[in-house]
Amino acid sequence: MRSHYCGELNETMIDQEVELCGWVHRRRDHGGVIFLDMRDREGIAQVVFDPDVEQSFAEAEKVRGEYVLRIKGRVRARPEGTVNKEMATGAVEVLGKELVILNRSETPPFQIDEYSHVGEEVRLKYRYVDLRRPEMLTKLRFRSKVTSNIRNFLDEEGFLDIETPILTRATPEGARDYLVPSRTHSGQFFALPQSPQLFKQLLMVAGMDRYYQIAKCFRDEDLRADRQPEFTQIDIETSFLEEKDIMDITQRMVTNLFKELLNIDLGEMPHLSYAEAMQRFGSDRPDLRIPLELEDIKDLMQSVDFKVFSGPAKDPKGRVAALRVPGGGKLSRKEIDEYTKFVGIYGAKGLAWIKVNDIGQGIEGLQSPIIKFMPEDVVNQLMQRLAAESGDIIFFGADKEKVVNEALGALRVKLGEDLALIEREWAPCWVVDFPMFEELEDGSLTPLHHPFTAPSCSVEELKKNPAAALSRAYDMVLNGTELGGGSIRIHDQAMQETVFRVLGIGEEEAKEKFGFLLDALQFGCPPHGGLAFGLDRLVMLMTGAKSIREVIAFPKTQSAACVMTDAPGEVGDEQLRELSIRVRKPIAEISD
Ligand code: AMO
Ligand code: AMP
Repeated sequence: MRSHYCGELNETMIDQEVELCGWVHRRRDHGGVIFLDMRDREGIAQVVFDPDVEQSFAEAEKVRGEYVLRIKGRVRARPEGTVNKEMATGAVEVLGKELVILNRSETPPFQIDEYSHVGEEVRLKYRYVDLRRPEMLTKLRFRSKVTSNIRNFLDEEGFLDIETPILTRATPEGARDYLVPSRTHSGQFFALPQSPQLFKQLLMVAGMDRYYQIAKCFRDEDLRADRQPEFTQIDIETSFLEEKDIMDITQRMVTNLFKELLNIDLGEMPHLSYAEAMQRFGSDRPDLRIPLELEDIKDLMQSVDFKVFSGPAKDPKGRVAALRVPGGGKLSRKEIDEYTKFVGIYGAKGLAWIKVNDIGQGIEGLQSPIIKFMPEDVVNQLMQRLAAESGDIIFFGADKEKVVNEALGALRVKLGEDLALIEREWAPCWVVDFPMFEELEDGSLTPLHHPFTAPSCSVEELKKNPAAALSRAYDMVLNGTELGGGSIRIHDQAMQETVFRVLGIGEEEAKEKFGFLLDALQFGCPPHGGLAFGLDRLVMLMTGAKSIREVIAFPKTQSAACVMTDAPGEVGDEQLRELSIRVRKPIAEISD
């Protein structure tokens, strides 16, 4: 139907006959001459219809926005003074000779070129219109380049692209499962994979040596800007490699991607232990673009006359930390109140502060609601430890370690953004030496990654003190986002069973849920390990998008629904009967 894409036209084609297909981006009537901006995937071209090509002119008069057309015409230079430098094809136009309306369009729910305050609901409901916007197209095109670059890289490194099942058993990655009822096995359910974790390990047992897959994963969890119920991983597994080898390959993969697609040198990726990341940044995904750091002051606050501080200072599970913010002295009371509210989201009960008005004046030069509770020598030591300078503000967190880390960790990032302290555009790092387990409120242990992660200690040591065990896991973090994570896996059955026991998974349950894995570990399982990157997050960061929804063609809303197809939806009684399912109405509906 067409000879060129609209966006391909340029001055070298002057006097050529062309055929274009596309959508009407804009139509303008200029005193008897009709200008159509025709748009397709590659760009926009201006087509002009004069009244002397009678029939086509008459058709062009009928045309409205988003109609689908085929036109034939001759490329010519635009008259002097009408060249549009903003447009890639702006030096030329097509003198239209024939015009066929291939399809009409209703008035679209929003203008493609005047997109501004359209709500996300509307954009998602008419996603096929939204995706016509050049910004959206650019992002999806970029995403396609990312996957193709990664495939090429991994192919060259000897990885095999192997698909794993979607209808499967639950793979524990810490979220709820999406379940699919089985018709042929009444009362039984498949689970959609939270990741291909178990299958990729089994592929290593099978001797595939190096596997990758651009894999869909499904997790029923609370959604945020960087989480979707259905997302994509670049999933990788290898045999006979150590942590450093796997980190080396995947770091080269990401570095190469940034260089080739964005011409950016990511540079070195420092390694931080989990403990160090928590201590200095209050987070296991530290945003290293921001130069602020948390400072421990537990020792100084043991005996101050301020229970808010001395309580957590004496509590083995407590933390008292300070965050010095250069130039923060200019913050108003109102702004400080806002930050106090902000840390409240993370459970902080307050946000004590000291403004350093004039460091030369000692305690006289400080302004703060809490200083009256502290002996002068403690204040002086505090100022020294923090290397405080005039113009600073110092914020404090005192509570259980978890609350202080989360509150001051998030405050650090927020202040970095609000006060424009971000020092560089890209700051990747590896976080290593994670604990194996995290303690829940009831004292039970849960895996920090997944239960197939190998600990760095022996079976005996793990049994003796599981809460202290570290794992052979590693996460790649970029600008405060966890881009990917992985580990060396357990390849020894005794170790795997020990981990299940520590997690309170009994022999029966382990056999029922993971019997196939425990079996496989007995049939010559090689030492193996891998990693998975979040493709959506990677593309989000690389394109500067605010949310992963912007880089997914058909994402779900915050409430995990698709407003376009209206999924999830109800199903008919007959289908439910076949699946042996009866739907229980929520109590509120029954009493109506
Ligand atoms: P993990 O659970 O850390 O590890 O997931 C790996 C990466 O996937 C991305 N990710 C998500 N992206 C969008 N929406 C979500 N809901 C979501 N959840 C996770 C993140 C994350 O770093 N099987 C292991 C990997 C391994 O050990 O090899 C796993 O799935 O970028
Ligand atoms: P109060 O004595 O409760 O008025 O608190 C005095 C100052 O300490 C206020 O600035 C509070 O915001 C702050 N504050 C209270 N609880 C905490 C806490 N757990 N961590 C840090 N600051 C706190």
